[in-house]
Amino acid sequence: MWDKKWVIGNWKMNGRLQNNNALMHRFRIMPTADRVVIGLAAPTVYLLQLHNAMQIVLNNRILTCAQDVSRFPNNGAYTGEVSADMMADIGVDIVLIGHSERSLYFGEKNEIQRQKMVNVLNVGLTPLLCVGESLEEREAGREQEVIAHQLSILEGLDTKNIAVAYEPVWAIGTGKVATTGQIADMHAFIHKQILSLCGNDVNIRILYGGSVNAGNAADIFAVPYVDGALVGGASLSYDSFTAIIDAAQES
Ligand code: 13P
Repeated sequence: MWDKKWVIGNWKMNGRLQNNNALMHRFRIMPTADRVVIGLAAPTVYLLQLHNAMQIVLNNRILTCAQDVSRFPNNGAYTGEVSADMMADIGVDIVLIGHSERSLYFGEKNEIQRQKMVNVLNVGLTPLLCVGESLEEREAGREQEVIAHQLSILEGLDTKNIAVAYEPVWAIGTGKVATTGQIADMHAFIHKQILSLCGNDVNIRILYGGSVNAGNAADIFAVPYVDGALVGGASLSYDSFTAIIDAAQES
């Protein structure tokens, strides 16, 4: 898993039982992609449906990913929350942490993200930490400082496996992709930061996210230290998502 490209689809708040089922059945004809770890992050109410479909229809070729998790570790009076343990119970593999839409709409910052990372690791699942700077921060030349602050929560975690998605906020859902030069600079920076925070003996995956599509995926996968993609809009259609998986397999 830690030497392959990852292509993770983030459905965000999209999906319905019937459509999800139809999509899962289409994935049955997907060509083999043995060099790619494929995952789909569905809304929480559909995770069990997805996991069952992946087991029964797809022989677990696609991993089940959650978009978020509770910061509270144990059962209790936390109305509306879903714990990491519950995610593990239904067969989730990877949990996104700190997506910029969580900080934008729910005010999530480092401290909460750190609690979530710890909870996910404690139940044996893989956290995928999302980081990214805003347009103002980039225009002010502060992108590395901002990303370094977001990555600082990785220090001292009890794991040898670190997965990060770099998603510049200005590239999410805008059709505006970061240039390969911008991606190369930031991914090399993130790689260096992870080594200094977590040690030289960690497994690292750094995914790019932000308007990745069938047309630009191959160029993005060719950038050094790009180990995959976190795909929003283009993961909602079989054709565009599988074209991105093909590009990862060929890269
Ligand atoms: P888009 O691919 O729709 O830009 O979304 C990126 C993203 O936020 C994935 O988590």
